[in-house]
Amino acid sequence: MIKIMRLIELKSDLKEAFLDFANDYENSGENRYLTAKNHFDEFLEKLSTGKKKENLPPEFVPGIQYFMVDGKRILGSIRFRFYLNNNLEKEGGHIGYDIRPSERRRGYGTLILKLVLEKVIEKGLKEILITCDSDNIGSKRIIEKNGGIFIDEVFIDISKKNVSRFKIILTSNKNTALNSDSANATSE
Ligand SMILES: CC(C)(COP(=O)(O)OP(=O)(O)OC[C@H]1O[C@@H](n2cnc3c(N)ncnc32)[C@H](O)[C@@H]1OP(=O)(O)O)[C@@H](O)C(=O)NCCC(=O)NCCS
Repeated sequence: MIKIMRLIELKSDLKEAFLDFANDYENSGENRYLTAKNHFDEFLEKLSTGKKKENLPPEFVPGIQYFMVDGKRILGSIRFRFYLNNNLEKEGGHIGYDIRPSERRRGYGTLILKLVLEKVIEKGLKEILITCDSDNIGSKRIIEKNGGIFIDEVFIDISKKNVSRFKIILTSNKNTALNSDSANATSE
């Protein structure tokens, strides 16, 4: 069966799907969406206000959070920050993502980054920074498969961990994953 994956913004009609998604993390011992699950309306509000600089404290960077859906089932989430500040330059970069625990190791992490790069290009960025913990092998592979070019490794004092930094150049449309026909996917 061909699956058509799309990136969407979360709306109230997907509340049931979101609770199912959040439960997947909770059942696996990850508390990533616990607050959002328990305060869904506030979470929707936060997603909305987070898109505009004027809604945020000065140190916050605006961005958009997408959810990757297969029909009404949410498979993962990806956050795209519109620009960097000093902290994000070091750790965080433009993009962060996660795939629901029960659906990992099936190529969805690679796909969700591929899909968001199309949005990033639409927004007019020519290059993005993306980082991951140096021991996060899965995330590293996802970045590399989407055309990531290793920049360097930095040590983060607060968390005492090494973070690898990559850039993805978007001007030439030559990202490996963007040209790949290995996944049936579309984004709206
Ligand atoms: C990291 C994460 C997004 C990977 O998602 P995923 O859907 O499993 O990724 P994919 O299936 O596309 O895997 C991509 C590659 O990484 C490999 N991989 C994935 N998880 C791995 C792991 N835990 N250990 C080793 N390799 C792994 C896959 O085998 C695949 O490699 P291949 O293409 O060479 O076969 C997912 O584990 C997750 O949500 N983790 C928690 C949040 C997180 O770490 N986000 C990244 C922050 S930068």
